[in-house]
Amino acid sequence: MIFREEEIKLSLYEAIFHRRSIRKYPEPHLSEEKLSGVRELLMERPRLYPNISSDVVMVENGSKLQRKISGIISDYGKVRAPHYLIVSSNEEDGHLADIGYSLEYVVLHLTSMGIGTCWIGKGFKDEELEDLVELPTAQESRALIAFGPPPDQELTRIKEPHRKGLGHFLLEKREDQLDEKERKLVDGLRRAPSAINGQPWRISIEEETVHLFIELRSKITRTLIGNMMTMNKIDGGIGLSHLEITAGNLWDDISIQSDHEVDMDGFKYIGSLNIL
Ligand SMILES: Cc1cc2nc3c(=O)[nH]c(=O)nc-3n(C[C@H](O)[C@H](O)[C@H](O)COP(=O)(O)O)c2cc1C
Repeated sequence: MIFREEEIKLSLYEAIFHRRSIRKYPEPHLSEEKLSGVRELLMERPRLYPNISSDVVMVENGSKLQRKISGIISDYGKVRAPHYLIVSSNEEDGHLADIGYSLEYVVLHLTSMGIGTCWIGKGFKDEELEDLVELPTAQESRALIAFGPPPDQELTRIKEPHRKGLGHFLLEKREDQLDEKERKLVDGLRRAPSAINGQPWRISIEEETVHLFIELRSKITRTLIGNMMTMNKIDGGIGLSHLEITAGNLWDDISIQSDHEVDMDGFKYIGSLNIL
């Protein structure tokens, strides 16, 4: 059983500080034992919207897939990994946030197992993968996660992350108004991975609730950056998992919810953290 409460809180929280995107992998592949650990993880991954049809296919022999995608998305970071996860879903409200939330748990678990990872935004058509994997019918792939044994010393604790200052993520509050726990909460959030390190998360901190939003870019920017809005919604779900894991380490009783809408001009609501 991998998702035991006590383990999640400690090891996943620590993993937030150790994770970074690993794009080059020196060793050919993971041991069979570790791969079966990954399979187990995938079966137990938590979901934000469990009713949405979504699957993850593990590609054990990643070299064929990797050759294919490094040709297709060569202009956006070349990743060469021994294994991949292909994440697919039906197009339903919340499906992208669900993917981000669910798979970031997997990513942080892999980090805590000493396995390197890198999220990869979709830059290919499903037909291009047809001869390599069979995707569940009626679903489309949305993202990949590359993984494998990392180079030595790559998953060490990161002191100063390559991220914006805490104040950048706050709506309605300034950094100097945060107490120590709130500072740690925002730090846990900002360390999350996001497409092109865009860090689109913004939070409003109330007495017992924290609402998470993503910034809506202007239409022009969205057109220029292609499928950036898709990626940002995945980033949103990733951010929610970081809020939950970080808060679980700071307060005794927390929960998240995403079943109501909170309006904020210029932002899209992702979910809320309740601190009880
Ligand atoms: C949804 C998503 C898509 C991403 N797509 C790519 C990608 O296509 N190629 C790549 O090299 N990195 C990709 N990344 C990794 C980001 O560039 C990386 O997370 C960010 O620069 C922060 O760096 P860090 O992960 O090392 O903290 C992606 C990350 C996310 C969350």
